[in-house]
This record gives sequence, structure tokens and C-alpha cells, in this order.
Amino acid sequence: LWLITGIRRRQPGEPPVENGWIPYLGCALQFGANPLEFLRSRQKKYGHIFTCKIAGQYVHFLCDPFSYHSVIRQGRHLDWKKFHFDASAKAFGHESMDPSHGYTTENLHQTFLKTLQGDALSSLIDTMMENLQSTMLQSGMLKAETSKWQSDGIFAFCYKTMFEAGYLTLFGKDLDGDQSIARQQAQKALVLNALENFKEFDKIFPALIAGLPIHVFKSAHSARENLAKTMLHENLSKRTNVSDLVSLRMLLNDTLSTFNELSKARTHVAILWASQANTLPATFWTLFYMIRCPAAMKAASEEVRRMFESSNQKVDPPNSRLVLTREQLDNMPVLDSVIKEAMRLSSASLNVRMAKSDFLLHLDNKESYHIRKDDVIALYPPMIHFDPEVYDNPLTYKYDRYLDENGQEKTSFYRNGRKLRYYYMPFGSGVTKCPGRFFAVHEIKQFLCLLLAYFEMELLDSDVKEPPLDQSRAGLGVLQPTYDVDFRYRLKFH
Ligand code: HEM
Repeated sequence: LWLITGIRRRQPGEPPVENGWIPYLGCALQFGANPLEFLRSRQKKYGHIFTCKIAGQYVHFLCDPFSYHSVIRQGRHLDWKKFHFDASAKAFGHESMDPSHGYTTENLHQTFLKTLQGDALSSLIDTMMENLQSTMLQSGMLKAETSKWQSDGIFAFCYKTMFEAGYLTLFGKDLDGDQSIARQQAQKALVLNALENFKEFDKIFPALIAGLPIHVFKSAHSARENLAKTMLHENLSKRTNVSDLVSLRMLLNDTLSTFNELSKARTHVAILWASQANTLPATFWTLFYMIRCPAAMKAASEEVRRMFESSNQKVDPPNSRLVLTREQLDNMPVLDSVIKEAMRLSSASLNVRMAKSDFLLHLDNKESYHIRKDDVIALYPPMIHFDPEVYDNPLTYKYDRYLDENGQEKTSFYRNGRKLRYYYMPFGSGVTKCPGRFFAVHEIKQFLCLLLAYFEMELLDSDVKEPPLDQSRAGLGVLQPTYDVDFRYRLKFH
């Protein structure tokens, strides 16, 4: 009978199995409704590892952080590429980027490491700082009547500012040497139009990953295709100041792949999505929690003021161009902690690997479990991020959670008296760790530095509650708030 219904029986040596009530979907709905609660209740019942059927796939959830390394370091038996390649092709509509499928020989992993880290990172950071300032200057934030408070939603504000600056940093500008106001405004309109398309597409991203075809979603489909059109190589090649990442990817698309022009463009849409989809909500949560906490505002403002003072820079908004080197940005432990704490509370990315063959998974407590070929092993970092043994009062925002007694980065976190190696994982783990993580943290820091240097900011309602997380994206990265929160800001100097 279990062969007909597709239900798996637990074999000796395998983790306990839960097939769920619904054929095919299995536990998908319960998991999707509240992953953390679901996993905690199963952990209580079954222990460190258990298997759930989710949408036709058997997933082993490993819940013991001391055993994480056996998955993260288990290269030989576990495949991480399959998901990325499949998911990207499904969501963005390009042909497979997996070299074994024959459309390209590009080693994407290498491309990302080469163009997002090391020397390439410094130039990304410099460009981002310039773009953030001109985005803020041009938007009228500084030019408008400077003594007046201006109101906006924090979410809307973060999305506009970070999307524009990040987009221009990766994909360059189409100014062609023409710096006239009219041309700049036209460029801004194009970028904001791209933002609208991005949001329209991003809304249905979880559905695409779940396997629904994009044709079901008419407006999201055309939004994605609009974005792709702007990224055809004939259009990108007219832009100036294109990042190493995008120019190398263009070259490799042209020389190593058999993709047609539209497919090439769609691979760039995938990069745009990866660079923004988590960064934007992460920026929202960082700013929201910081503004709401006077102690965080005070400590962060102090750190920013000291940094500009120590490099003899005068903050004089319309006239000054502030510069922060990578070394300076790396030396801001308060901002680091402020960003980490916001991401601890809002990120929910599932780390997954697929078994390439049957093998034995060894846990920290010396138990071993049989894993079958093609099964999935998953780690869900919120299990650690919200573990009261690791993080005291885990639901409470503490801006200085990641600072030690000397005000430097805190890296010692414990469970059962044992020091944890994995206690903070919003960027994934091991080989699949986000290659853009350094850039992501730097750009959020730059955003905070400029805001804190230029503006006074406050919530319209100082007692506002935190908006609930939109769980529909759980598993995919940083969650969005279910609604926006208003704040107001004005120049400090008027
Ligand atoms: C992949 C998180 C920002 C580029 C990932 C993954 C996570 C992640 C969890 C998948 C890892 C896995 O599957 O285990 C984040 C977060 C960010 C952020 C939380 C911001 C707060 C960025 C930025 C860029 C970027 C700014 C680029 C400029 C990428 C790329 C991949 C990726 C290219 C795919 C890597 C691959 O398939 O080899 N990110 N990311 N990310 N991220 Fe990020």
C-alpha cells in the first residue's frame, strides 16, 4: 500500500518519518504556516533529526546546532548545486546554468567569488557610497525646504534609496557623460520603474520556487520580462561604470554559453534579484529597530560621528561628499551589532543539501542515521536565532547583543555550556554561503552612516509595535514586514 500512496516507511537506522495527512503535500501546509513552531514541536517529539514529507520530497531536518558541521562540511555525499540551478532556471526563465546540462561552461561560483569579494569589493563599496549620496541628494531629500520634517514609510524609504543605489552600483549608469538634471531625472524614473517591476515579480517568487509556472501570474510575468528587456546585452553595453560582476557575466554569457539574447538577459535579472531581495528587507528591519530604540540610536550616532571626525570630514549635506573606506567600515562594531540583531530577528533562510548517494550521517552525540540518495537535508537557522538558551529573551531586540564587554564583536555564544560554532546564519553556510554577504553588510552600514550623519529621524508613533513578519517567504531569506511603519526625518543642519 505504501508504494501506491508514495508513503515512506521508516527503515532501521533512519530518522523518524512524518508523512503528513495530505498525499503529495505531506506536511507542507503545517510547515508553511509557521515553520519555527512546526519544527520545534517535532523536535520535542522526535529529537535531533526527523524526516518530513514536504511537497513530494523527503526532507531530513537537523535541529542540533552541534551537528551542523557534519552537513555543512559533508561535501562528498551532499550536492548543493542542484537547488540553486533548478530554482534559478525555474524562477527567471533562463536555461540551466549547470555546466553538466551543456548550455554554459561558466563556473558561477568562481564568478561570484572573484567579483564580489577581495579587491573587487573595495570598488563596489566606493561606487555604492557615491550612488547612495547622489540618490539621497537628488531625491529632493536634501534640496527641499531643509528645515521641514518630511514623512515617509520606513519600508518605502529603504526600498527606494537602496534599490536605486544598489542597481546603479551593479548595472552602471546610462548617462553617457550627460549629467544634466533632466537626464538624471530620466534615469531616476527608469530605476524606479525597475523597482516597481522588481516588487511585482518578487511578490510571487515563493510561488515560483514552490513550482507554479510563471504564466499563471500575468502581471508578474510581464514585470520579469520588462526587467529582462532592460538587461539585454545591447542595452547593458551602453551603460557606464558597470560592476565587475555584471561585465564579467556578460563576457562569459557571450563566450562560454549557447544562451540566446533573452536568456542571457534573464541571468542578469537573477543577479538583480539576488542582490536586492534580501538586502531591502534587511535594511528596513535594521532602520526600524534602530529608530525605535533610543540607546541604539545614541550608540550608532556616536560611532558614526567619531568615524567622520577621525577622518577630518565635515558633514555639510548639499556640499560635502563623504567617504568611508572599507577599513573604516570594518571598524564599526556598533553598526555591525545593530545589523546582525535585526537580521537575527527577521531572517529565515532554509539551508538545503541533497544526498548524492546513500550514506551515513554522523551526529555530534555519536548517533548515526542512514540517509537515502536524493533525500534532502535541511538546516533552519531560526531554530538557533530564537533559542532562549543561546539568546536570552530571543524575541527582544537588543542592539548590543553582538558586542562584548569591550565594545568589540562578540563571538562567544553557548548552548548547554558548550560554545557554538554556528550561532548566526542569515547568509547560509559552507559552500552555499552568500557570496555577496560582505557587500550586503557594507552597503547597509553606508546607508546608516549617511542617514545618521545627515538627518534627525523619529517614528511618527513612538510606541509603534513591530509589524509581524510575512511568513509566506519563510525559507527563502529575510522576511518582509506585513505592513509599513511611518517615520519622519529632517536635515540636522538648517
Ligand atoms: C545566495 C542571503 C545579499 C548575491 C544567498 C543565499 C542566502 C543569501 C541565504 C543562499 C545560500 C544557500 O543557498 O544556502 C543574503 C542576505 C543578504 C544578501 C541575507 C542581505 C542582507 C546579497 C547581495 C548580493 C548577493 C547584496 C550581490 C551583490 C548572492 C548570490 C547568491 C546568493 C549571487 C547565489 C550564490 C550561488 O548560487 O552560488 N544569499 N544575501 N546576496 N547571494 Fe545573497
